[in-house]
Amino acid sequence: MSTVFNFTFVPWFRSVAPYIHKFRNQTFVVGVPGEAIAAGKLPNLVQDLALIQSMGVRVVLVHGFRPQVNEQLRAKGHEARYHRGIRITDSVALDSAQEAAGQLRYEIEAAFSMGLPNTPMAGATVRVISGNFITARPVGIVDGIDFQHSGLVRKVDAVGIVRALDMGALVLLSPFGFSPTGEAFNLSMEEVATSVAVALQADKLIFVTEIPGIRVRPFDPPGDDNPIDTELPLADAERILAEGPQPAQPTDPGFYLQYCVRACKGGVERSHIIPFAVDGSLLLEVYVHDGIGTMVVDEKLESLREANADDVGGILQLIEPFEKDGTLVKRSRTEIERDIANYTIIEHDGVIFGCAALYPYPEARTGEMASLTVSPQAQGQGDGEKLLKRIEQRARLMGLESIFVLTTRTMHWFLKRGFQPVPPDWLPEARKRKYNWDRRSQVLVKRLG
Ligand SMILES: CC(C)(COP(=O)(O)OP(=O)(O)OC[C@H]1O[C@@H](n2cnc3c(N)ncnc32)[C@H](O)[C@@H]1OP(=O)(O)O)[C@@H](O)C(=O)NCCC(=O)NCCS
Repeated sequence: MSTVFNFTFVPWFRSVAPYIHKFRNQTFVVGVPGEAIAAGKLPNLVQDLALIQSMGVRVVLVHGFRPQVNEQLRAKGHEARYHRGIRITDSVALDSAQEAAGQLRYEIEAAFSMGLPNTPMAGATVRVISGNFITARPVGIVDGIDFQHSGLVRKVDAVGIVRALDMGALVLLSPFGFSPTGEAFNLSMEEVATSVAVALQADKLIFVTEIPGIRVRPFDPPGDDNPIDTELPLADAERILAEGPQPAQPTDPGFYLQYCVRACKGGVERSHIIPFAVDGSLLLEVYVHDGIGTMVVDEKLESLREANADDVGGILQLIEPFEKDGTLVKRSRTEIERDIANYTIIEHDGVIFGCAALYPYPEARTGEMASLTVSPQAQGQGDGEKLLKRIEQRARLMGLESIFVLTTRTMHWFLKRGFQPVPPDWLPEARKRKYNWDRRSQVLVKRLG
C-alpha cells in the first residue's frame, strides 16, 4: 500500500466522523423516483442506503414508479393521463400500478439481500419491512376531472413504522394506500415521502431526483454563474414557489421543492434535493460539509457563538490533528473544560468547524488569541477571519488594547490581518514565564483601534 494513501484516507475518514456520530439514531426518509430505478441506479443507491443504515441511521425508503407504470400502460395499449402533474388512475392504470409496484418491490428487496464477498454489500444484513402503513383518500374531482383511483395520504401509521425501525429494519414503502373500505389508491412517491417524514418528525427528507438541485437563479439556464444553491432558507424556497410557474414535471424547479417546503413547515428541519445522476450523491450530501444538492432549511445553519460545556468534545476533535502535527500546542480536556468560556466557535449543522480562544491578561491590557483553528474541509471561506473579528470584539469589550498570538507556522496569515512581530520579551510577565523557548514561536501583536 502506498504511504500517500494513509495520509489521504485517514484524515478523510476522520473528517466524516462528526457526521457519523451526529446522524446515529436519526431518521431519514428517502424518496427515490421510478426514473432513478429505470436509469439503472438501484444497485448503487441500495449500497449507499445499506451503508448509511449500518452507521445507525433509521431509514424509510419510498420508491416511485412513474415510468414503470407508463410502460405497463403502453404494453396494454393505453396512454398515461395526468392533470396538474397528478396521474389520473383509471382501472387499467390501477392494475398497471399494482403490477409495477410488485415488480419494483421484489427488485428492491433483492438488491438489499445481496451480500457477495468483495462488494460493498458484503456483510450487510438489511432487513426490509413493508406494510399497509398508509391510509389513503381519493383525490376526487378537481377542475371537473375525476381522478378515480388516484389518492392522497389520509393517515400514516407512524407507530407501526417506528416499531419496525426500532427492530433495526429498513422500512420500504410503495406509493399505495388503502381506504378503510379496503380500496387501493395510487399515490405519488413525493406525497408519501413527505407525509411520512412529517408524521415521523424525521430529521431529514431526501429526494434523489432527476435534477441536480435548485440553482441560485432557479429559472435561468445552468452555468458557472448559476450554480446549485446548497442551502436554501425556507423563506427563499417559498418565494421561488410563489414567483415560478405551477410545476407540472419532476424536472421543473418547483416540483420537488414544493414537497420540501411542506415537510419543512411540518417540522422536518432539513429537506434535500439531490441528483441520482451523480454516483454516491446520498453519501456526498449527508457526509460532506457543503453537500452536493440543495438543502431546504428553516434558517441559516452556520452560526458563530461563544462555546459552552457541550462543545468540549467537538473542540477537542477539531484541534487534535493540529496538535499532533505540532501546529498547535497541546491542551488537555480538563484545561479546555476549565476555560470553555474563553472559546468562540463556528458551528454548522450541529458540527463544530472552527474555534478560537481568548486568554486575557488585564494587568497588561492585552489578551492571547489561542487555538485558532478551522477544519481543513472548511478552510479558505473566511471562517478564520470571522473568528478573529469576534475575538477582537470580545477583547475590546473587556477593555483590552491589543491581542497577541504565538505561532510557528501561520505567521503570514496574521501579518496580512494587521499583526506585527514583537520579541518574546514583549509578553506580559505571567505569559512570559510559560513561554517555551524551545518552540521558538513568533509573537505577533495586533493593536485594537
Ligand atoms: C489559519 C486558519 C485558522 C485560517 O482559517 P481559514 O478559515 O482558512 O481563513 P480565511 O478563510 O479567513 O483565510 C484564508 C486565507 O488564509 C490563507 N492561509 C491559510 N493558512 C495559512 C497559513 N498557514 N499561512 C498563511 N496563510 C494562510 C489562505 O491561503 C487564504 O488566503 P487568501 O485569502 O489569500 O486566499 C486555518 O488555516 C487553520 O486552522 N490552520 C491550522 C491551525 C493554525 O495554524 N492555527 C493558527 C495557530 S497560531
